[in-house]
Amino acid sequence: MNPSLCCWHGTVFCFRKGFGTMALSDDLKAVEAQVQEGLKGATSIQALEELRIKALGKKGQLTALMRMMGKIPPEERPAMGQLANAVRANVETAIKQRKLELDKEMLSKKMAAEAADVTLPGRSLSLGTQHLITQIREEIEDIFCGLGYIVADGPYVETTWYNFTALNAPADHPSRSARDSFYVVDNAPEGKEPLVLGDSDVLLRTQTSGMQVHFMEQNKPPIYMICPGTVFRPDTADANHLPQFNQVEGLVVDEGITFGDLKGTLDYFTREIFGKDRATRYRPHFFPFTEPSCEVDVSCGVCHGEGCRFCKNTGWLEILGCGMVDPNVLENCGIDSEKYTGFAFGIGVERVAALRYDLPDLRMLMEGDMRFLRQF
Ligand code: DAH
Repeated sequence: MNPSLCCWHGTVFCFRKGFGTMALSDDLKAVEAQVQEGLKGATSIQALEELRIKALGKKGQLTALMRMMGKIPPEERPAMGQLANAVRANVETAIKQRKLELDKEMLSKKMAAEAADVTLPGRSLSLGTQHLITQIREEIEDIFCGLGYIVADGPYVETTWYNFTALNAPADHPSRSARDSFYVVDNAPEGKEPLVLGDSDVLLRTQTSGMQVHFMEQNKPPIYMICPGTVFRPDTADANHLPQFNQVEGLVVDEGITFGDLKGTLDYFTREIFGKDRATRYRPHFFPFTEPSCEVDVSCGVCHGEGCRFCKNTGWLEILGCGMVDPNVLENCGIDSEKYTGFAFGIGVERVAALRYDLPDLRMLMEGDMRFLRQF
C-alpha cells in the first residue's frame, strides 16, 4: 500500500518503521501534490476552504505528518523539518494564490452581472411645484405683507361662539343650520334635524371670519392682519362649489379707519392680483359682522365689461365680501368701539384662481390631475 495515499485518505499511519524518512518525505510531497491538484478543481471559495482544512486544519494531513516528526531519528529531523515547513509554506501560498484568483473571478462575474449601461439616458426627475391655490394664497399674502399686515393662522375646528355668535350672527341665522355647517358632534334626535344648542357646539369652520375674534382677543389695536385658511361647508362639489375651499380673511382695527381706507386697500389689492386695467365696483350686501357691508366685483377680464358668457353677461365678477367692522363685534372682543373703527374682508382663493385663469370648473383644483396642475 502506498503510504502517501493512506495519508491523504485519512487517519492511517504514514510513517512506518522500515520506510524511514523516505516515507515521510514522500507523504509530505504527496500532500503538496494533491493540494496542487485539488486546487485546480476548487472553483468556489467554499471548496477551497474545505481543501485548506483537509491539508492544514487541526486534523489535516500536514498537521498529522508534522506530529510524526518526533518519531524519526534525531539526526534526520532538521532536514525533514525543513522539508515539512517548505511543504506547508508552499501549500499555504498556493491556497492563498488560488483564493486571490477566485476572488477576482467572482468580482468580475459580479461586475458583468451588475453592469450598468452608462450610455443610457438618465431618468429625469420631475420637479414639483406649489399647487395653484398655494401660489395664489402666497401672492395674496405678499400683497398684504407689503402693506404692513401680519399673517395669522387659526384653527379649522371652531365653536359656534367664534364662527357665529361673536360675529354678531343672530341665533336663527340660516348659516348656523346643520344643513349649512359641518357639526363635529351630530346631536340630531332619532330621525330629526340636528339641534344647534349653544355657543360651545363644535363645527368645522365655515368661514375664516372667526379669526377676527381670536385675533382681537389676543391683540390690541392697531391691528392689520390677514388669515389664510381652509373652510368647510356641506355643499356637493360642482363647477361652482366645493365642500372645502380657502379664504383669506382680513382685519384692520385702528383709530380713525374709514370706508375710504377699505376701498383704497381693496382697489389696490384687485389691481395687484388681476392687473392695472381691471375696474372694481362695490355692491351693497349684508354680513352680520360688518356694517355697512358690500361685495366687491372686478370687471370681467374676458370681455372687459362688455358682457360675455364667463361673466353671465354682467361685465362683472364677484371676488370678495367686506365691510366696516360692526361695533358689536369690537365690543364682543373687548375693544372700545367709540375709540376704534375698522374694516374686514374675506377673499375666496379658489375664486381668484378661477377668475384669473378662466377655470371652467372649480373641481379641477381638487382633483390632482397633473395635466392640469403642470400648467401653473
Ligand atoms: N365670511 C364671509 C363669507 O364666508 C366673507 C366675508 C364677508 C368676510 C365680509 C369678511 C367680511 O371679513 O367683512 O362669505
